[in-house]
Amino acid sequence: METMVIRGGRRLQGTVTASGSKNASLAIMAACLLADGTSRVTNVPDVQDIRTMCTMLEILGARARMQDNVFTLDPKGFASRPAPYELVKTMRASIYVLAPLLSRFGKAQVALPGGCAIGQRPIDQHLKGLEALGAQVSLEHGYIHTAAPHGLKGADIYLDVASVGATVNIMLAAVLAAGKTVIDHAACEPEIVDLAEGLNRMGADIKGAGSSRIEIKGQRQLGPMEHRVITDRIEAGTLAVAGAITAGDITIRSFPGRHLTALEKKLGEAGVEVVPAAGDAVQIKRLQERLAPVDIVTLPYPGFPTDLQAQWMALMCLAAGRSVVTETIWENRFLHVAELKRMGADIQIEGSNALVRGGALLSGAQVMASDLRASAALILAGLVAEGETTVSRIYHLDRGYEQLEEKLASLGADIQRIRE
Ligand code: EPU
Repeated sequence: METMVIRGGRRLQGTVTASGSKNASLAIMAACLLADGTSRVTNVPDVQDIRTMCTMLEILGARARMQDNVFTLDPKGFASRPAPYELVKTMRASIYVLAPLLSRFGKAQVALPGGCAIGQRPIDQHLKGLEALGAQVSLEHGYIHTAAPHGLKGADIYLDVASVGATVNIMLAAVLAAGKTVIDHAACEPEIVDLAEGLNRMGADIKGAGSSRIEIKGQRQLGPMEHRVITDRIEAGTLAVAGAITAGDITIRSFPGRHLTALEKKLGEAGVEVVPAAGDAVQIKRLQERLAPVDIVTLPYPGFPTDLQAQWMALMCLAAGRSVVTETIWENRFLHVAELKRMGADIQIEGSNALVRGGALLSGAQVMASDLRASAALILAGLVAEGETTVSRIYHLDRGYEQLEEKLASLGADIQRIRE
């Protein structure tokens, strides 16, 4: 087991570079299964979820490699094999192999992902979309069995919720389906746009990604992909909050400003400026000694991202007054609250609202990470807490942050990973 030990009280200073997007990469890696030939994708973060996806692709017979943030996939040996529960349960995005299996082999068998710490995480919209494209779906012994003996056919699909994952799976199925598919109430997240760009580079015909209506003309075959993944907006946002919370003076390179408008505006209201610097860099500047309390509501893009909610809450623990953090995406994404309270935070949960009374001095404590973003929030709190904070179950962090402790240490944080 590994833990992260942080001694709080250092103002962060210096320059750091944001990594490539984990969530865009996961969808794009699955997309490479659709190609006739070897794909090459750059700027892929070297994190555990990416390694898990590589393992999944290898189990399916493809040859997946990750080296120096370059992912290559040779799908030559890709075969119709079950995507096993042992792997799917460790990473839900494994479900992205469902559509490539179905469209290439006319059948797929993928373990049904269970719930996770942040919510039940149903996949009914994925299956509804695939059924509309002509797949027969059944659940047997914990596995989703899908078959499309007559091939997939384009269809008009309306999603009941603008699900990122369902939009990905339907796009991956529709690019090789016969005829035209329209996805209405599609997810608009930047990761969807990046996937569409990658697929279009393979020869797909996708229009409207980034809006709530995506139109796809199916192709007979797709060539390999050469693509550079977008910056991870959640990692970049986490680094911005690290600068803000420590009243530091940091510059973040490769900052995806246009994907982080909600965070930038909210930081502005709290008294933190995001100042454009050279190229695609920004400087994070706290304008006032005390942060102003600012409410947020998590919403699908371009609303405030749920994946930055926990980090924002850590920031609001320092604000001069009361703020409300409302989570509308995941029904159980307040597990960090009890841990922040162990550090002296004053937070009360009322349904989907967390009432944060900021201003109390945080004190270092032993805390436990419950999920990826909660672990980042606890580290952020540790950066300003008095004394030592130990965050356990740090494997959650390693799923999605590339070298976060090295990056924070390079900015002057006193942070150390302890391997027990
Ligand atoms: N939903 C359904 N039915 C479905 C699918 C989703 O009701 O078939 C509901 C969910 O229960 C949730 C909402 O729709 O209430 C949104 O879920 P979505 O499908 O958009 O989430 P996801 O695709 O499972 C991705 C990210 C998450 C991020 C969410 C929301 C990946 C691999 N994961 O999950 O990222 O929180 O979108 O933006 O892209 C993270 O990186 O820490 C993380 C959890």
